[in-house]
Amino acid sequence: MNVLLIGGGGREHALAEVLLASPTLGRLQVAPGNPGMADHRIDLDVADHGAVVARALRDGVDLVVVGPEAPLVDGLADALRDAGLAVLGPSAAAARLEGSKAFTRRIASEAGVPQPASATFVDTQSASAWLDEFARPVVVKADGLAAGKGVIIPETRAETDAAIAEMLDGGSMGDAGRTVVLEERMTGPELSLFALCDGTRAVSLGVARDHKRVGDGDTGPNTGGMGAFSPVPGVTEVDEQHYLATFVDPVLKVMAERGTPYVGVLYVGLMLTDEGPKLVEFNCRLGDPEAQVVLPLLADDAVALFAAVAAGRAPTSVGRRPGHAATVVACAEGYPAAPRKGVPIPTVPEATDELRVFHAGTAVHGDRLVSAGGRVLAVTGLAEDLDGALERAYAVIDELTGDGLFARSDIGGRMTTETTTGNETDGAGEPDAYARAGVSFEAGESAVERIAARVGATHDDRVVAGVGSFGGVYDVSSLGLDQPLLVSSTDTCGTKTVLAAQVGHWDGIGADIVNHGVNDVLVQGARPLFMLDTISAGSLSVDVVDAVVGSMATACVENGCVLLGGETAEVPGLIHTGQVDVAGTMVGVVDRSALLPRADIRAGDVLLGLESNGLHTNGYSLARTVVAELGADHAIDGDDLPLGLALLRPHRSYLAPLAAALDGGKVKALAHLTGGGFPDNIPRCLPDGLGAEVDTTAWPTPPLFQLLVDHIGLGRDEAHRVFNMGIGMVVVVAPGDVDAVTAAIDEPVHVIGSVTSEVGVTLR
Ligand code: GLY
Repeated sequence: MNVLLIGGGGREHALAEVLLASPTLGRLQVAPGNPGMADHRIDLDVADHGAVVARALRDGVDLVVVGPEAPLVDGLADALRDAGLAVLGPSAAAARLEGSKAFTRRIASEAGVPQPASATFVDTQSASAWLDEFARPVVVKADGLAAGKGVIIPETRAETDAAIAEMLDGGSMGDAGRTVVLEERMTGPELSLFALCDGTRAVSLGVARDHKRVGDGDTGPNTGGMGAFSPVPGVTEVDEQHYLATFVDPVLKVMAERGTPYVGVLYVGLMLTDEGPKLVEFNCRLGDPEAQVVLPLLADDAVALFAAVAAGRAPTSVGRRPGHAATVVACAEGYPAAPRKGVPIPTVPEATDELRVFHAGTAVHGDRLVSAGGRVLAVTGLAEDLDGALERAYAVIDELTGDGLFARSDIGGRMTTETTTGNETDGAGEPDAYARAGVSFEAGESAVERIAARVGATHDDRVVAGVGSFGGVYDVSSLGLDQPLLVSSTDTCGTKTVLAAQVGHWDGIGADIVNHGVNDVLVQGARPLFMLDTISAGSLSVDVVDAVVGSMATACVENGCVLLGGETAEVPGLIHTGQVDVAGTMVGVVDRSALLPRADIRAGDVLLGLESNGLHTNGYSLARTVVAELGADHAIDGDDLPLGLALLRPHRSYLAPLAAALDGGKVKALAHLTGGGFPDNIPRCLPDGLGAEVDTTAWPTPPLFQLLVDHIGLGRDEAHRVFNMGIGMVVVVAPGDVDAVTAAIDEPVHVIGSVTSEVGVTLR
């Protein structure tokens, strides 16, 4: 088959390569192409659709593959199809899924695709009124194609208003911005899925993750993409099928029903949010540089595959090579604002099974290869694992960069700074990986020693084996209980750690996870025995691990339990560089006779509330949106800490204040206020058939909560589901025991409600 390939970037060089490898290929022509495909370039103005059609018919082209979005949005595929030619690429009507963000949101909504809240505006006044109402951070998008410049992520309301005004004025975005789409700002790792769509069915070509910011650590302005890798650790083929079924199939159905079936590659940009994957965007083509990692892993005959899809016969699966691909883009200095042209490019190595060098913004001047665009070359490494692939790509990138060319040094979460350690360390943890990352084992070991000392300081003589052993061993024989029951609870700090990373304050994060676990086992009447933790990070910082483990150890000692062991995992690619996930499991013990909740809870029993000292470990995804708007330094009237640090106050433990009351035997039940607030947590400790009534005015709302609720504009019921609103633990007692229990608790106790014979929780 003769194939005409339209486009001239790195993506098209990668397409050319898989087309050239196909046994089905007759002749390949590329327009405009680039020096990487010199032998196949033809002289053809791709903006002149009539000329492209005429040339394709004259040269006996059997299949046209269109790489970039602009000609598709412009209707090139329509012109070719009208002339009876087979095309891999959507019609102009279908390419609106990339060409108009407002259209995408409408179609996605019709198709029932999970997506952020959004609204479309053509005037600033209506946009402003919507923002007043919405009161959460947004992303501002120009409706039309804007060559990667149409998305602004403002930090404040003032920046949001300015971005909208500039777009609507037709400023830097021109006509693309005459309509703006405002979208709820989502957080989470991004993922791109590439679906080959034949009009009614889709098959996955693979998934990739790219790095859009120009600088290391995801800093600086957005670019077209500085590097990418495929597959994405943690994303299985089952996930891919799920994403196809959720995001692609229903959209294909809607597009077909509208009479504009989608044929071509659909790029599905997803954000993996706390609430599940949501649609960021659709693009009507392969990603660049994602194509440079997805295509080299294609095992099937590309010409046959693309032709079948173009003819409405997508296969049910696509063969992929085992292993991983990672690409790093070498850019011309000044990219993205004003890339230097004419930078000489050193000789690039030949392609091998383990390495590809794809041309993008290159040109030949005389006999020299020079830069002619921002993204100049994409170097793809292939290996059994991601680390190996990155290593191969960087071996070349390190040679290319320096003199007028630069690249990010942390693609794929590649470690560049001093890292490592913990009571056990793994992830990319073979010695080689650390050596490559410039990590000194001596530094690692001294950090291990530091942490081991902190952990060891929590141990008592019940610890038989701790740090360094495969399993922690704890001796329960001396507990002296008649019928000891072990109680366990596991949890994470959730996205509180994202705020800790933002504010650079880790000192309380360990206490958070310990105290959360202590409170959970306490609710069953148990006292904590030992804790096991996991700290996972994209790139481990000794100081962060030290601060977190140190704070865990201190909290364990305060609660009379031990930090028996843990895991410190470096998982680049799975967790963004700079982010840390902290999880822990607490094991406690209770004698069967003291197990809570008791069975004798009755309607009329009283609910006592103990105060919280902040958000504890819940509601941070929402609270962070307020930090994004007001800033971490924002002063709170009535609180001695600014917003960021007030939100980072460690979750308090209720063991000490409740110990005497529990020993007194009059506490019938406890409920720890975690996610879901009163409505979700009080019923967890009540027998079937009973409910509760809570008087939400029975205690003062702490200033921090007042600020969050006012700023976000939350109603009472919603506020009490997302946040604890000032009460962190509920104690259930008989009416006659209120005084005795209150007297046994050495801190403010609020009578906040009662147990009722009506199921559910009523807030008053
Ligand atoms: N790498 C992002 C894109 O191709 O849109």
